[in-house]
Amino acid sequence: MSDRWYQKAVIYCADIDTFADSNGDGVGDIKGLIGRLDYLARLGITCLWLNPIHPTPDRDDGYDVADFYNVDPRFGNLGDFADLLHQARDRGIRVIIDLVVNHTSDQHPWFQSARSSPDSPYRDWYVWSDAEPEDRHQGMVFPGEQAETWSYDRTAKKWFYHRFYKFQPDLNINNPEVREEIKKICAFWLQLGVSGFRMDAVPFIVEQTEPGNPDSPKDMEFLSELRQYIQWRQGDAVLLAEANVEPEQLKEFFGDAGGSANRIHMLFDFMLNSRLMLSLARGNPEAIIDALRDTPKLPVGGQWATFLRNHDEVDLSRLTAEQRAEVFAEFGPDENMQLYGRGIRRRLATMLGNDRRRIELAYALQFSLRGTPVLRYGEELGMGEDLTQDGRNAIRTPMQWSLAANGGFSTAAADQLVRPVITGGDYGYERLNVTLQRHDTKSLLSWFERMIRTLKEAPEVGTGSCTHVDVPASTGLLVHRADGATGTVLFLHNLAPEAGEVDLGSLYPEADFPNDVLADQEYPEPGKLDKLTVGGYGYRWIRLCRKP
Ligand code: GLC
Repeated sequence: MSDRWYQKAVIYCADIDTFADSNGDGVGDIKGLIGRLDYLARLGITCLWLNPIHPTPDRDDGYDVADFYNVDPRFGNLGDFADLLHQARDRGIRVIIDLVVNHTSDQHPWFQSARSSPDSPYRDWYVWSDAEPEDRHQGMVFPGEQAETWSYDRTAKKWFYHRFYKFQPDLNINNPEVREEIKKICAFWLQLGVSGFRMDAVPFIVEQTEPGNPDSPKDMEFLSELRQYIQWRQGDAVLLAEANVEPEQLKEFFGDAGGSANRIHMLFDFMLNSRLMLSLARGNPEAIIDALRDTPKLPVGGQWATFLRNHDEVDLSRLTAEQRAEVFAEFGPDENMQLYGRGIRRRLATMLGNDRRRIELAYALQFSLRGTPVLRYGEELGMGEDLTQDGRNAIRTPMQWSLAANGGFSTAAADQLVRPVITGGDYGYERLNVTLQRHDTKSLLSWFERMIRTLKEAPEVGTGSCTHVDVPASTGLLVHRADGATGTVLFLHNLAPEAGEVDLGSLYPEADFPNDVLADQEYPEPGKLDKLTVGGYGYRWIRLCRKP
């Protein structure tokens, strides 16, 4: 079988504007990022996912694109971007970029032209209605910040559709010209050297919106068409999609009814994400076990992308109201920590009370569950959030590099920064930064480096199967195993504060010198696997056997 790089990848998500500023204007840029590639290489990540890089009015952190064929001038130019791709590749790091084609910015020349005249060649690139649609106040993605999904445009004298904010008019996927343009955008960036795309808002891209029909049909075939296209342009390019839909709909995003994986290669595992949060909140792995059992079997080559935190709120919308309340109570009790009635705008370290044991446990667990792990910048340091910032910006503060002014992010005056750096207290850059953690072999950063190196010796996680080992165990203990062509790794994660134990003697016949490859503390040799203990919030990764 062909070697699929994305199955063994460790993906790191960075936002150029808050990562590293090379020219002192207060905004991170491509050159700044290039200067930090060695840091990323040492951390061990193999794929960099960049949040939108294009010119933008920046009213939704770049998810409002004004030109798909360029980079935001604040970040540099296309020459800098080509250099980034070269420098990253030199270090064995691939780059994927956000592909935001459900909508454009209302400032995009296409929309400006479309609204200006019925004769505009771009008129049909957007979704219009002459009459006020009855479902105008339905389907908002940002309740509280967004009042409607159809707004009236005075220039066009028509209503236009926007699944997200009003300044993000939806493109019309029914229009063949729009489909061709999306492919052209992909081709452009592939030609420059990206390894694929994180596709934004995929369930909405395929929506064939009809005014007055909140349940408009979806054209899933577009995904097959796009996959075909990009795969011919570049054989190893990947699509990693954001599709937070009901479990029974997930399969359709991976492939058509024929069962082959001919659509999206990788989907973010939102279902697992909310179950992980619920399990961490309860100190009990039941919800994760349910998730492992309930998720559909993927076609060959289909892959999950696991995550704990991303650049948005923790989305708990697929939990029941009671479960959501439990997670809120534990991780986001103040109203100011919550968002859109469904989520939490905090980073992981703060939600876990900065308890180092729990943070390690959570990430050891995420990185050992089936699929490809995705890590958001700053999480490797245990960065916190700034709740004085609006909405999701709370978790989009600048990377904390050192003790230098602005945490080494930028030499600009503090009030010139794209967003303030977190200062003071346990999470301020004075105490929490890369340089300090680099010098400390016991730091979270050093732990992440070790953990990622260990994962690279356990390709079974990304390429093999992941199964819950259903044996009697202490209440907080999750036991799972990854089996692949190269062998088997056993994982024990204790979500509870009390020590736990389990008898895995039944697996001993499969074992070949079982040994701990990663653990929260020194444990006695696994022996016959019949008396395995795990400390409170502890974890053990045990190599059960290796196949040649
Ligand atoms: C996705 C992004 C989010 C953005 C939205 C609109 O959900 O993750 O950050 O606001 O799409 O593009």
